[in-house]
Amino acid sequence: MTTAFITGATSGIGRAMALELSKAGYEVFAIGRNKAALAKLRTSQGAITPVALDVTDRKALAAAVKDLQIDVLINNAGMMPPLGNFTDMSINDIEATLELNLNAAIVLTRLVVPQMRERSAGHIMFTGSIAAHAAFSNIAVYSATKAAIAGFAASLRADLSPYGIRVTEIVAGRVETPLYNDILDEKARAAMYAGNVAVQPEDVAKMVVAVLALPNRADVTRFDIMPTRPVSPSGTR
Ligand SMILES: NC(=O)c1ccc[n+]([C@@H]2O[C@H](COP(=O)([O-])OP(=O)(O)OC[C@H]3O[C@@H](n4cnc5c(N)ncnc54)[C@H](OP(=O)(O)O)[C@@H]3O)[C@@H](O)[C@H]2O)c1
Repeated sequence: MTTAFITGATSGIGRAMALELSKAGYEVFAIGRNKAALAKLRTSQGAITPVALDVTDRKALAAAVKDLQIDVLINNAGMMPPLGNFTDMSINDIEATLELNLNAAIVLTRLVVPQMRERSAGHIMFTGSIAAHAAFSNIAVYSATKAAIAGFAASLRADLSPYGIRVTEIVAGRVETPLYNDILDEKARAAMYAGNVAVQPEDVAKMVVAVLALPNRADVTRFDIMPTRPVSPSGTR
């Protein structure tokens, strides 16, 4: 069975990917810190192994992947720090965002990639963002992490494609998930997703399954998935 190791699988896009991939016959390792959400995944259909793990904990990360064969790695865990002008951003929020959105993804990839190179097979995906490719106010550090992920994915592909390893950057626009739960009140979140225009996590997950199903000769290096109807110009992503 093909294995998929998905970070940030307790919620939103990652959870949808875990469910869709397990439905498609993958053996899924679902990573996150929220034990209750992990337990719910265990009772879902298909083969999902929940793994309680903080991906910023380097030792725990190394231990978690040590004895696993990972065919598909999806670096998806991420956070949105409090929205606001960069001038006012706390150093703690800057560091936490860099650590989770960027450093953890690079470190995890470094831990997994040698076994893929040895087998001359594998697929690495990153949940990036439109914020990497267009400018929005109030999310400068978030944008920086996603732009760095885009650059990392592109260079990584150049390193790994000679070994038959595929790398995909998922460029997501506004997807209706709990990403803003800690930083916006319910009213603001309802306004953000009003009119049922946002992309749903399952939409992204279905694309991921389709991309993975292509023959190895074809590498979808990046796909963009955006709401069909435009979001407000001042809107966050
Ligand atoms: N929603 C959007 O509009 C949108 C657009 C573009 C890109 N994205 C990206 O999509 C990815 C998933 O976000 P989402 O929208 O699905 O938000 P979400 O529902 O808040 O999911 C975030 C996931 O990250 C996990 N996570 C956070 N900190 C972690 C840590 N230290 N260790 C392990 N897991 C951790 C969370 O799990 P635990 O809390 O259980 O640890 C959760 O499963 C992120 O990279 C985000 O930047 C989202």
